[in-house]
Amino acid sequence: MPSSQVAVLAGLGSWLPPRVVGNEEIAQRLDTSDEWIRSRTGIAERRVVDPGTSTVDLAVEAGRRALTSAGETEADAVVLATSTADQLCPASAPQVATKLGLNGVAAFDVNAVCSGFVYGLATGAGLIAAGVARRVLVIGADAFTSLVDPEDRGTVPIFGDGAGAVLLRAGDPDELGALGPFDLHSEGELAELLWVEAGGAKNRRSDDPRDHYLVMQGQTVFRHACARMAESARAVVGAAGWAVGDIDRFIGHQANIRILQTCAKQLGLAEDVMYSNIEKVGNTSAASIPIALADAAKEGALQPGHRVVMGAFGAGLTWGSTLLRWPDVIPG
Ligand code: UT7
Repeated sequence: MPSSQVAVLAGLGSWLPPRVVGNEEIAQRLDTSDEWIRSRTGIAERRVVDPGTSTVDLAVEAGRRALTSAGETEADAVVLATSTADQLCPASAPQVATKLGLNGVAAFDVNAVCSGFVYGLATGAGLIAAGVARRVLVIGADAFTSLVDPEDRGTVPIFGDGAGAVLLRAGDPDELGALGPFDLHSEGELAELLWVEAGGAKNRRSDDPRDHYLVMQGQTVFRHACARMAESARAVVGAAGWAVGDIDRFIGHQANIRILQTCAKQLGLAEDVMYSNIEKVGNTSAASIPIALADAAKEGALQPGHRVVMGAFGAGLTWGSTLLRWPDVIPG
């Protein structure tokens, strides 16, 4: 395979579990209100998995739609971005691949939490550039509400469940849909700002059940999210030889509408360049960007040739960006 092969976005799909949880339902059991949640986050409702539905189920639905959107039944590899794998061990991607009928293909998880999809795209693009695979299914899927303490008003209103996926194929750097460059970063010293302390190898079982749930220092995370996403968008745009003003659509991680607004201000972008679907889905972690891509494409907010930047930020801390000129894809 020629070394100039890059990853081209050839298919797109998303899937949300059917159960809608509106702000009022949360306000009935926690000390919060629809007004507070809307004004502080931009969220009106989110989707939540029913018991028995898992990340693998969400990922399979989104993956199937991305394959159909690309007109493909095969892929050579499955990269699943998630921090809510069905089991602590093994990874969930092999189960997803099998359920999609992709028997025997390379399949593994990437865990960069809410930045996972952008990390997953970089991994998929790397497999293609290295000649390891010609078609890579990259899925972002999280049943993130499984990590949320049902008693914590600081996190319950924010998070939702869902999945989104793209099929990447080997192609030419000049094609619409060609991905890259990438800009990826992390800062492990700040892991405690947003983490689940117990359940892993360091603290397998804690006597305090709250240690098994997500703890978030919201305000500090908020400030890092705005600054890092803006910084990374500038870096990736510069590396591509674009100017910030060339961006037609910014598809950012949907963590909080105010983060997207602040990020737009820091970049000097008009607010309508920032796409948001957070009102309907909340923060779906690794699924957030591909669900937003699919919704934006369905609404006509992404048109072939648009210069699109994807920007992510999440626990770890991790953050990163990539870009493309939007291809002619019909999302499933
Ligand atoms: O996805 C990965 C990254 N995650 C994020 O990027 C999340 C980033 N953080 C945020 O989005 C915001 O910090 C939150 C939405 C989590 C919180 O919004 P905030 O504007 O930063 O609120 P705050 O934590 O500063 O709290 C303001 C007030 C406090 O009351 P006092 O001290 O002013 O009396 C809180 O106790 O709001 C109170 N509060 C609530 N009130 C009603 C906190 N949560 C709630 C709530 N309902 N759910």
